[in-house]
Amino acid sequence: MSGAQPSTGAPSVGGVPLDRCLPALRALEPRAQACYVYDLDALDARARRFAAAFAPLGALCAYALKANALAALLERLRERGFGADAVSLGELELAAAAGFRAPARVLNGNGRTVAEADWVAREGVALVNADLVEELDLLQAAAARAERRVRVALRVNPGVETAGHRYIATGDDEAKFGIAPSEALEAWAARARWPRLDVDGIHVHVGSQILDPVPLERSLEVALELAAESARRGSPLGLVNLGGGFGVDYEGRGVEFPLERYAAGVLARAAGRGLAWVVEPGRWLVAPVGMLVCEVLWVKRRGARRFVVLSAGMNDLIRPALYHARHRIVALRPRPGALEPAMVVGPVCESADLFAEDAPLPPLEPGDPVALLDAGAYGAAMASTYNGRGRLAELVAEGGRLTRARAGETPADLAARTRNDTIAW
Ligand code: LLP
Repeated sequence: MSGAQPSTGAPSVGGVPLDRCLPALRALEPRAQACYVYDLDALDARARRFAAAFAPLGALCAYALKANALAALLERLRERGFGADAVSLGELELAAAAGFRAPARVLNGNGRTVAEADWVAREGVALVNADLVEELDLLQAAAARAERRVRVALRVNPGVETAGHRYIATGDDEAKFGIAPSEALEAWAARARWPRLDVDGIHVHVGSQILDPVPLERSLEVALELAAESARRGSPLGLVNLGGGFGVDYEGRGVEFPLERYAAGVLARAAGRGLAWVVEPGRWLVAPVGMLVCEVLWVKRRGARRFVVLSAGMNDLIRPALYHARHRIVALRPRPGALEPAMVVGPVCESADLFAEDAPLPPLEPGDPVALLDAGAYGAAMASTYNGRGRLAELVAEGGRLTRARAGETPADLAARTRNDTIAW
């Protein structure tokens, strides 16, 4: 959060008191009970800081759209010189619509389709990260159809473990991603088999929410070793894609990923090698700039427990249920009284709809505004309509101006997909 503290004492986003956002949204959506709010001033500052750290390397900083593809955020990141890392046909289209041109676009993913291959061959990208060698045949055929060239990096699984939940580790032996180093060396050596492709890159992405740079540094070393080995075998590489994974301080304890130190380390190792570089940050840019604002629906006591039922649930922010992630929870208009542990839950009919088991919170009553912090990455992007709950409105705040950047889904929106179409088979 940034900006001055408003007179209510609530934190502010982009110069707007956070506790005003939901009441203000109700002028447009009278039934809104929660919303996402993003601080564009804070995003701007983070984007500048990230770009400055990697500028000496000359890296293409391709923002991972999967973290949050809201157009207002994409526009700002594009203005700050970022490229776009897409992982599907949908994200390629979103990136193009947001104005990211071919040299700024990267395609990722381990389930390449003919439609994606045709799209990149036709519309152009800086790079495709291929997750298996057979994918090169698919890309070659698409490039031939479009009579274009496509640059390809092979995603290598470097066998590097990361701390954190298994579901966000991607660089160890158990993860589905990437090919073995030996296989990559063989494919680079055989690159003449794919005459329409420039198979001269290596991609390593070992996980997400990484705070300790050591696994990232290890995967950099693996990439450099493989590049050197491929050159010894007569097939030099031209590009290293280091992926994303840069973590943020969810606990609010000042434990930050050492971004500038890491970037300087990469720069030092890059010197004299003549390689092009790509990084794919997602979370680091957008997580801290987003808040999920909601209200207390009920406070229930059972035995010694205090349950605080919020108007936002696991369908709005699934990270705690899926990864046991913890987002700080703050009362936006704290009532006087001692902090007491609360089990903070949502209204969805699942016991996993649990945001915190023991959040220290002041006395709360129905209607009190509450925010879940650091919800800008993998929050709205992973939302569902489970329990018939439409996805939330998304607001952006900047310089004291509040804008609805995406409308909330209504029950009528959900019903609108219903059909009764006979299909000939
Ligand atoms: N590049 C590749 C190939 C990726 O798979 C990812 C994220 C990124 C870049 C961006 O990673 P970041 O800088 O955001 O860590 N839903 C999970 C995170 C999944 C990350 C998936 N891949 C969560 O909420 O923690």
